[in-house]
Amino acid sequence: MSTEFRRASPADHPKISEAIQTWWRDSRTPEQARELSLMIPRVFLEHFSGTSTIVTDSDGLAGFLVGFLSQDHTDAAYIHFVGVRPDLRGHGLARKLYEDFFATVRAADRTVVRAVTSPRNTNSIAFHRHLGFAVLDPGEGDIEQLARMARTLG
Ligand SMILES: CC(C)(COP(=O)(O)OP(=O)(O)OC[C@H]1O[C@@H](n2cnc3c(N)ncnc32)[C@H](O)[C@@H]1OP(=O)(O)O)[C@@H](O)C(=O)NCCC(=O)NCCS
Repeated sequence: MSTEFRRASPADHPKISEAIQTWWRDSRTPEQARELSLMIPRVFLEHFSGTSTIVTDSDGLAGFLVGFLSQDHTDAAYIHFVGVRPDLRGHGLARKLYEDFFATVRAADRTVVRAVTSPRNTNSIAFHRHLGFAVLDPGEGDIEQLARMARTLG
């Protein structure tokens, strides 16, 4: 697998939006996935480009992570979305995206990484637990609710 990692830019917004609508189908209906895609507005890619990563391969968008340093919690950073194209899953791409993000967070002298997901997205919760996140709040099981997770960086 030959992939290239780079910082995200506003020009990536249409591809990310399209990816969310197709890559999240295991936990969402098409309409729910379309609504979910609205949770990454283009402006995020203007203001959080330095902490958001795009991965490409010869077929186009291979994966992405959109995250930022918390404005209000000065010890923390936040991962808003991560996605890997279905045919590339299980090869360590998301781990690499997280480790790159952790390095950026450490360089900014922050020690806590927070993330959210749908309580129904059991794969995402299991993936985060595997990467050392604790579930702080499991949410209430509804698609509109959020499960909140965090890990401390060593
Ligand atoms: C969750 C997701 C990003 C994982 O991507 P991936 O590239 O397949 O993950 P990786 O191959 O990097 O896995 C990293 C580690 O997590 C583990 N892992 C991955 N999915 C897992 C799961 N469902 N349960 C338990 N462990 C899991 C892997 O075994 C691997 O372990 P290792 O590094 O110790 O060998 C991917 O499945 C995805 O895009 N899902 C849809 C979008 C989504 O739900 N995003 C999260 C919410 S925003």
